[in-house]
Amino acid sequence: MANQKGSGSTVDRARPLDHQKAHEFQAYGHLTHRPIALSEAAARQSVENLNQVLADTMTLRDLYKKHHWQVAGATFHQLHLLFDKHYEEQNELVDELAERIQALGGVCLAMAADVAETTIIPRPPKGREEVPVQVSRLLHAHEIVVEEARSMARQAAEAGDDGTNDLLVSDVIRGNEKQVWFLSEHVVDVPLVKAD
Ligand SMILES: [Fe+2]
Repeated sequence: MANQKGSGSTVDRARPLDHQKAHEFQAYGHLTHRPIALSEAAARQSVENLNQVLADTMTLRDLYKKHHWQVAGATFHQLHLLFDKHYEEQNELVDELAERIQALGGVCLAMAADVAETTIIPRPPKGREEVPVQVSRLLHAHEIVVEEARSMARQAAEAGDDGTNDLLVSDVIRGNEKQVWFLSEHVVDVPLVKAD
């Protein structure tokens, strides 16, 4: 008899509890305290700044994938590969930025619609553009990220948030600067076959 009851409850337990709903337990913009010896003001400022640079990094990352798919011309193969390499590196930055926001007690942006209304990088057209235009677009996006990250890094250092300062300087700024180098060399007008 005990078996009957047991087998019945096993069947019920195996049924997935789907379609569940509840209120959010931490709203976007709400900061929860973490014991990391950082003032609430410092953590709040870092979370706000990091969400901005996160939205811009996600946009830059996706711009690389768009260009990876849509590139054309004699340099197709090398740019196809380079754009994807930079995409992967930007994707790693996205993860580091989002996890830093959570570590500080904040809530990170995640979804495309929220990113679209937050980013300050201009929206590109849906269609295909020539290589020099693609490269120029990427360089402009990089400069936006580097400029804001430098000022945010200084703010974090002044507020005593060394972890955020380090992430911005060591990963975001240096990573973007290196990608800018690789990218900008593609729009230097030097002869391909015959010297001037
Ligand atoms: Fe691909």
